[in-house]
Amino acid sequence: MAARILDGKALAEQCNAEIAERVSRLARPPGLAVVLVGEDAASKVYVRNKGRSAAKLGFVHRQVDLPADASEAAVLAAVDELGADPSIDGILVQLPLPRHINTQRVMDHIPAHKDVDGITATSAGLLSQGRPSFVACTPQGSMRLIALAGATLTGANAVVIGRSNIVGRPMAMLLEQANATVTVCHSRSRDLAGAVQRAEFVIAAVGQAGLVRGEWIREGAVVIDVGMNRTAEGKLTGDVEYEAASQRAAAITPVPGGVGPMTIAMLMQNTVLAAERRS
Ligand code: GUN
Repeated sequence: MAARILDGKALAEQCNAEIAERVSRLARPPGLAVVLVGEDAASKVYVRNKGRSAAKLGFVHRQVDLPADASEAAVLAAVDELGADPSIDGILVQLPLPRHINTQRVMDHIPAHKDVDGITATSAGLLSQGRPSFVACTPQGSMRLIALAGATLTGANAVVIGRSNIVGRPMAMLLEQANATVTVCHSRSRDLAGAVQRAEFVIAAVGQAGLVRGEWIREGAVVIDVGMNRTAEGKLTGDVEYEAASQRAAAITPVPGGVGPMTIAMLMQNTVLAAERRS
């Protein structure tokens, strides 16, 4: 039987309705600042989508564009300025940054109370101890999609493919805190196929089109595809072989229209949370 399609766009719209309601109760609108360094085409699209969503929800939205050859000091100065700006509740520095910039050093300049991306060492540390402050947006959105699927995580095997600070690591922590037994796989893992075959929940976050073969998916599994890859024809595609996986999974997220819209909705949710904590 074909899998249920987990519609991230529809779920994001529901989340946005709740967020709009919370915005209406604030004395002044939430302020979100996005810093974009360089000309990466995919990053530009993501940043534009975040800006559109913020505007639609009535947020104050600031975008700071810096050239690809901006010095690390210039990026740090921009982050520090936003950190001190009382009209800004949340700061997101779009990744990846150009190679000459030390990403962690930049992230460390985002004040913890404005870390709506959940990327700082403080946010990661608090999450690892089970007392989250701001949870990274893609993992948070993925958990909402898993909840929509209605399958029980407690006691189940979950595999996370990818170990980035922004997706894989926080994702594994959230799954473990929801009582799943979690395996984290990465580019050096010896038996990816075996790990996927054992998993009732598969979260693919590597950025490699079709890496997860449809035939590996266990019958009845829930598949969350975080990948956003462009084919040679310019089409967006995920990390999972969608058609083949859909024949075996109970539920699966499409690309586009799955995790992507939920990532943006969770960024808006974190920003409204930051604004509520301010007032
Ligand atoms: N680039 C791709 N996804 C993300 C994200 O969630 N946060 C940031 N800061 N950059 C990204």
